[in-house]
Order: sequence, then structure tokens, then C-alpha cells
Amino acid sequence: MSYPSKHLLAIEGLEPPHIADLLDLAESYALLNRSGKTQRDLLKGRTLINLFFEDSTRTRTSFELAGKRLGADVINMSVSTSSVNKGETLLDTASTLNAMQCDLLVIRHAQSGAPALLSQKVDAAVINAGDGTHEHPTQALLDALTIRRHKGSLQGLVVAICGDIAHSRVARSNIHLLTTMGSRVRVVGPPTLIPADAARLGVEVFHDMKAGLKDADVVMMLRLQRERMSGGLVPSAREFFRFYGLDAEKLALAKPDSIVMHPGPMNRGVEIDSAIADHPTRSVIGEQVEMGVACRMAVLDVLARRLPRNR
Ligand code: NCD
Repeated sequence: MSYPSKHLLAIEGLEPPHIADLLDLAESYALLNRSGKTQRDLLKGRTLINLFFEDSTRTRTSFELAGKRLGADVINMSVSTSSVNKGETLLDTASTLNAMQCDLLVIRHAQSGAPALLSQKVDAAVINAGDGTHEHPTQALLDALTIRRHKGSLQGLVVAICGDIAHSRVARSNIHLLTTMGSRVRVVGPPTLIPADAARLGVEVFHDMKAGLKDADVVMMLRLQRERMSGGLVPSAREFFRFYGLDAEKLALAKPDSIVMHPGPMNRGVEIDSAIADHPTRSVIGEQVEMGVACRMAVLDVLARRLPRNR
């Protein structure tokens, strides 16, 4: 296993073999999970703390499940954003967690860079579960695994990431991963929701949804992340759906065997039509959640191998 670091803070900086190895290991966990077998010894005696300063359904529960399936003691700490006194409180929290001798620390935080800061202050291996608008590396891994299972390889695929790119850490991590692995990435959305540095990230920018979806292999939809917007960057939800919502008519422009993805939580009727979200053959949204557990098991496994045996 070629993974280069003690932590998983970002996809940016990982090289193709690191990503491919993680995905191969995750695939083996996906098969193990489907067979109903568990591997409860790997993280036996290890403590995993889920430290969530922002809401989460899928990410927190799947880290919890992944940790438990590998035999770790898992503790969930949800900290309401309103009570967080930024920097100082975060570092105070870090020293508390350090005193508890936690081995693996999963953190979600509204501030970009919070997991990296924490990683300098604790002994535990730190996993970024989403920081501000920066990165959400395990989401990109689970998306890549889902794509690979349907398309065989990431190389040469046309992936259209649509909607609120500017505020999306999911988009950033996916852009880094997919471009590193040889996919052609398009970002599709209104100018107000495309980051100014998009072209620097090696993607093609489209403001017209139909042009952006033409012949795409993968269509990835994103939520309008209003909690991260300052001011109204979109007119009304109805207007947004008309131009940028994924419905059957727009999806017809993508390849006939293209798959539809969404990291959740979905706003049906805003960025995606219900009939497409629930489409029996095109939507892989449920499989993304399943692969989330497998990918998080792979990440915990790889990071745990680098931990000192006895702390
Ligand atoms: C995403 C997140 O939190 O960045 N959700 C997730 O982890 N599945 C996307 C979002 O909040 O829209």
C-alpha cells in the first residue's frame, strides 16, 4: 500500500497509485460488506472519534459503521456550530482529545483548514470529513469507486459536475481526484456559482447546462449550499431548476448509458427532478452511500497500519 501520509486531509497532492490502491482496497471491503462478513480485529483496541462541528447524516454514520465493522471503539461528538469559538476552542478540544489518547480523529468543520490545523496538535491520525469549501476527500473516493464499478476505469471519462461548484468541497475533491486519474472534468453552472479559479483546476467551464451535459459519461449534481453563500447568488429555486436542474430532457443529452450521482443531501425539484433521482437504471445515488462505508473502511485500515502499536 503506497499511501504517503499519516493523515487524510485532502485529495490534492495524492498521486494516481495512492488513489488506485485506496480504491482497490475499498472494492475488497465493498465485496466483504456484501457478503455479510466483518473484520472486527483490525482496529480492535483503537479509538475513533467522530468530531462533527457541522450537520451530517451519511458521512458521520458511515464513518461510525466503518469503524465498528473494523472493531474500533467509536465515539461521536457533535458540536453545534453556534457554540464554537473558532481557533481557540478547536485547539482546546484538540488537547482534550489528545489526553483521551484517541487513535483516529474524523473531523468536519465549517472552516477550511481546520482538520489540517488539528493534525498539527494531536497525536491521532486525522481524517477530513469536509472542511468549509475546501475538501471532502472520502466523498471523492466513494464517488470514484462508484464510477469505476460502472465504467471500469476513470481514464478518459467525461464527468460533468453541475450546480453550486463554488461552495462545494465535494466538487473540489472530485476535481482533484478525477483529473489526477485521467478523466475529463466539466463544471456546469451559472457564473455566480463557478469559482474564479476553475480553469486553473484543469476543468472545462460551461454555463449552458445542455452543452455541458453533451455526451457526458457521468452527471454529478450538487446542492445549492446556501449556508456558505453570502447574499443571494441564485434567483429562485424554480428559476434555478429551469436552467440547471437535472430532468429527463437535459439528461437525454448525456450518453445513453451515463450515470447520475449526488452526494446528498438532495433538494428534489431544485437541482434534481425526483424521477431522475429515483431512476432505476441511471441513478447510482444509493450505491454511492454503500461505497461510502467501504471507502471509509479502506481509509481507516490504511491509516491504522501507520499508527504506533501501543500508545
Ligand atoms: C456534502 C457535504 O457535506 O459537503 N454532503 C455529504 O457529505 N454527503 C454535500 C452537501 O452538503 O451538499
